[in-house]
Amino acid sequence: MSSELKVLSPNVHYTDEHIEVDYQYQTTTVVASGPGGYTVKPETTELNIRTVRNVPRLGLMLVGWGGNNGSTLTAALEANKHSLEWRTRQGVQKANWYGSITQSSTVLLGSDATGQDVYIPMNQLVPMVNPDDIVVDGWDISSLNIGEAMRRAQVLEVGLQDQVYKRLAQLRPRPSIYDPDFIAANQADRADNTIRGTRYEQYQQIVQDIREFKQQSGVEKVVILWTANTERFAEVKEGVNTTMADLERSLKQNHTEISPSTIFAMAAIAENCIYINGSPQNTFVPGVIEMAEHYGAFIAGDDFKSGQTKLKSVLVDFLVSAGIKPVSIVSYNHLGNNDGKNLSAPQQFRSKEISKSNVVDDMVASNHILYGADEHPDHCVVIKYVPYVGDSKRAMDEYTSQIMLGGHNTLVIHNTCEDSLLATPLILDLAILGELCSRIQIRRKEPSGGEYLPFRSVLSLLSYLCKAPLVPQGTPVVNSLFRQRTAIENILRACVGLPPLSHMTLEHRFDLPVGDGQSAEAQHIAKKARVNGTAPYANGTTEKCNGVLNGASHPSEEIPGAQFLGCFLEEKKIKMSQQEKAARRAALRNEYWRTMTNPHNHLRGESGGVFDTGLARFQAMRVNHFEHFKPTGRSFKIGLFTVVIPIIAYAKMMKHERDQREQQYRTGQVAYADRRFKFI
Ligand SMILES: NC(=O)c1ccc[n+]([C@@H]2O[C@H](COP(=O)([O-])OP(=O)(O)OC[C@H]3O[C@@H](n4cnc5c(N)ncnc54)[C@H](O)[C@@H]3O)[C@@H](O)[C@H]2O)c1
Repeated sequence: MSSELKVLSPNVHYTDEHIEVDYQYQTTTVVASGPGGYTVKPETTELNIRTVRNVPRLGLMLVGWGGNNGSTLTAALEANKHSLEWRTRQGVQKANWYGSITQSSTVLLGSDATGQDVYIPMNQLVPMVNPDDIVVDGWDISSLNIGEAMRRAQVLEVGLQDQVYKRLAQLRPRPSIYDPDFIAANQADRADNTIRGTRYEQYQQIVQDIREFKQQSGVEKVVILWTANTERFAEVKEGVNTTMADLERSLKQNHTEISPSTIFAMAAIAENCIYINGSPQNTFVPGVIEMAEHYGAFIAGDDFKSGQTKLKSVLVDFLVSAGIKPVSIVSYNHLGNNDGKNLSAPQQFRSKEISKSNVVDDMVASNHILYGADEHPDHCVVIKYVPYVGDSKRAMDEYTSQIMLGGHNTLVIHNTCEDSLLATPLILDLAILGELCSRIQIRRKEPSGGEYLPFRSVLSLLSYLCKAPLVPQGTPVVNSLFRQRTAIENILRACVGLPPLSHMTLEHRFDLPVGDGQSAEAQHIAKKARVNGTAPYANGTTEKCNGVLNGASHPSEEIPGAQFLGCFLEEKKIKMSQQEKAARRAALRNEYWRTMTNPHNHLRGESGGVFDTGLARFQAMRVNHFEHFKPTGRSFKIGLFTVVIPIIAYAKMMKHERDQREQQYRTGQVAYADRRFKFI
């Protein structure tokens, strides 16, 4: 699929093969820091960035294809490719890719001539693989076909399962490497599809499988992704796996610390495939990383960042950046799928615990006002296997933070969702973004003619999708989800010659025309319109014409003035339609009152009455009187003379009259029979 986006800029060149960009990369170097303050130096590096435009036919080979994630992804690809729909209790559900950043998220491109933000799907920013064109294959130690595997997983609605079953039942996973020492013993009963032989022979078989798949499917590039069960950590030992040479030797010597996932990674690297680790184990021992660098292959991991950890990396980022100090983070999980069963074994749980535990480290380290040098919040992770809940994972988190002057703030979050429906879109994004990274190259402009460099072998750009991000040696780990996403967006923008998103929008905050001369002129006209009141400002709506593309070239370079003219006509239309609406509302109100107060209706017993404006005013006054009453000297006098004095005078008169009557009774001037109140 080719991207629709065209950038009009002298710095962007489209050739048949590449999008080539002259780019200014700006960084800030802290030259000195200490008690005396900080000295920083902003620097600009002139770069050339080029992206291959041709999107290859992509093959995706899943290790653990028959698992919940593997079968769900295959069904989702099928469902989306054929735009399937199925009935559920809530109505008809259509296939979608919710949860995938490449397919279902948008990125801010800039603002249009009316100042409105323009968003486009992330996959339209640069040419990316279309999921419909991905060919899937893979391995599993369980021989069940993918249709049956999907039924075993119990993730998808039956209406969808039934529509894709026939097609999925034709797909069978290739036999895989089973080492009971690395995954939990409770997986033994499904291991009926295994490759026999030594580790080196197993490695050779995997290489053979990759070549066969490439040849049979005709794919040009292959991503291999581990979505099989979590393994225990392999021991990292000098002489065994710390260098490429040691690792290769250990493989040939059938060393017991070479895990199945490491064998898959080695085969993928040797075959120049991209290898991604979706589980927490340490597949990427130092020898594997050296091997990837040696072959120039790409690797990424570890462990899909799907639910609880994703939220943690957002919440802790928010708290710490708000100057609030998280002091205790406690996470409980229970789940009942096969992943949960595997994780109920202590060594496999340990892998997961390690992967989940470092997620807040960089955010804590970023704020030395809140945390001392070695200070960390308490962080505890518990996972329990509860078969009944199946794939519907429950995650309960409690975040306790210190707020101002010794106060505390506790957040409790309960999250329930189908685990595999969160993880599957991440697999798609990892494959698509991993492939994209392999088409991007960069070089310094000076000295000219230098060689273009690809990304470093460890694709840290995919950290957004990984719980325990693997980064090139010596580079910082970033866990903050927003920083990770911003990096993806800004690098994709750089590939098409757009500046990083700063969200400064100075053109909206100051009366400052920005951009080239023509758009500056247009902004000046827009400002005048605002000042003269011709540009409508409805409450909270943004019908205004002072926008320019956010640092980028103008959307229509030819006639920006015409766009602003169009904008004013548009404003006028809006204003007219507002007037029309107000007139219509007044006519309706009159009609209502005419009907309600028609005296003939009253005779018919249907309401009605002569409309007396004075009476209406009086009634309105009575209703509103209480709210609008203000004690003043005048209102005091009115109250005194119209209410208080008459009441007192009346009471006095009554008392006087009663006293007189009493006097007459007592003095016998009135006969008992003539008294007003008597017993007989
Ligand atoms: N939300 C999520 O689902 C999520 C999030 C993060 C990480 N993960 C990780 O993704 C992995 C897969 O999750 P799942 O729910 O699909 O698990 P699953 O148990 O349903 O699937 C794993 C599959 O791998 C197969 N398998 C085991 N060892 C193998 C090997 N050596 N070679 C080939 N196949 C092998 C199993 O037979 C099974 O079919 C797990 O390690 C899990 O920890 C999942």
